[in-house]
Amino acid sequence: MANDLHPTASPDHFWMPFTANRQFKAGPRLLESAEGLYYTASDGRQILDGTAGLWCCNAGHGRREISEAVSRQIAKMDFAPTFQMGHPLPFELAEQLSRITPPGLNRVFFTNSGSESVDTALKVALAYQRAIGQGTRTRLIGRELAYHGVGFGGISVGGMPNNRRAFGALLPGVDHLPHTLDLQRNAFSRGLPQYGVERADELERLVTLHGAENIAAVIVEPMSGSAGVILPPLGYLQRLREITAKHGILLIFDEVITGFGRVGKAFAAERWGVTPDILTCAKGLTNGAVPMGAVCVADHLFEAFMSGPESAIEFFHGYTYSGHPVACAAALATLEIYRNEQLFEKAIALEDYWQDALFSLRSLPNVIDIRTVGLVGGLQFAPHADGVGKRAYEVFRQSFENGLLVRASGDTIALSPALIVDKPQIDAMIARFADAIRTAG
Ligand SMILES: Cc1ncc(COP(=O)(O)O)c(C=O)c1O
Repeated sequence: MANDLHPTASPDHFWMPFTANRQFKAGPRLLESAEGLYYTASDGRQILDGTAGLWCCNAGHGRREISEAVSRQIAKMDFAPTFQMGHPLPFELAEQLSRITPPGLNRVFFTNSGSESVDTALKVALAYQRAIGQGTRTRLIGRELAYHGVGFGGISVGGMPNNRRAFGALLPGVDHLPHTLDLQRNAFSRGLPQYGVERADELERLVTLHGAENIAAVIVEPMSGSAGVILPPLGYLQRLREITAKHGILLIFDEVITGFGRVGKAFAAERWGVTPDILTCAKGLTNGAVPMGAVCVADHLFEAFMSGPESAIEFFHGYTYSGHPVACAAALATLEIYRNEQLFEKAIALEDYWQDALFSLRSLPNVIDIRTVGLVGGLQFAPHADGVGKRAYEVFRQSFENGLLVRASGDTIALSPALIVDKPQIDAMIARFADAIRTAG
């Protein structure tokens, strides 16, 4: 056992999210502090953070610029409502965000998480179609294996079976595109896989089935992170854009993971040259320091809402904490770090080194695929006879014993270090990871 709970803390009360509670509590792994690329575990060990927390601390841990901005703001004004009231920070943040979003996506709605961003985006899409007199467009299209958070909208368009099956009928009128994971044709591709663009054409089939006039929006992660780093085949996102544009269907990119430099540009939309109508983000927006998400919306969508009487509320939606001053302060400080340290550029400059390092693991036991782009890597393992996920969990557990935090999802381990990572740290990660893979067998 690597760590013990604090002697006075009972393990009974915290219902842990997405965790095997009984297994964890029998052998807890506890983190106590964080600095740069390292966590310190409660037994004093230094743990290399191979996952930027949970895909969120893109500028590394313990950034004083952020903690000081947060402290200053909480002392100056802890909270201010943004319903029929305002304060300067969300206006400033929205303006700054719109400088790095894809062209034309200049209107920003703030949320507190990725899940809220997704549900907000779906509501914007439905309400927009109605606002332009296309009220029959109520169907939403997601994709198999997608992760869009845990709200009812997000799990309805999402495609990870375990996240859906216990929760009833979900939203009506939702369909799914096929996923793009294809080990037979694409295993061990470097960068975007060559095969699979035709899977976007399935959208044409759904349009024929339902009628374009009944479809509001398609939502995809440009790269699926949570389902195990599933990359878009070459040309796939472009094809989706063409088909959605042709049929008046909105395209939503869920960039909760891919945003803020993870794939080597501010957003995946920029990296792959495809501009959606709506883009969701969260995580890296505040470097994980304070919960916050955002939905970036095309100008013409926003304008369509601005047509009724000026005294009328245009969109009956919002959260108590939309544009929270402390979250805004954290986000403004974070964006400044990204700019000053040119972290997105740094990520792309390291991409080749990172890819080579990951591909050095190719011949290790049971590795059946390696997928990588930007500063993301996914290693997929052959399924264990005892069931899906057993082997990856064992590699995850062993990596932690070796002083490396990775993320297990099904039979895949994902790595996504902070963008401040350097070459010796990449080498150290790969060495610890390789050892864990060998030990786990
Ligand atoms: C693509 C995507 N959308 C939405 C979410 C949900 O974000 P949150 O956990 O902040 O609600 C995630 C979380 O990993 C995600 O990867």
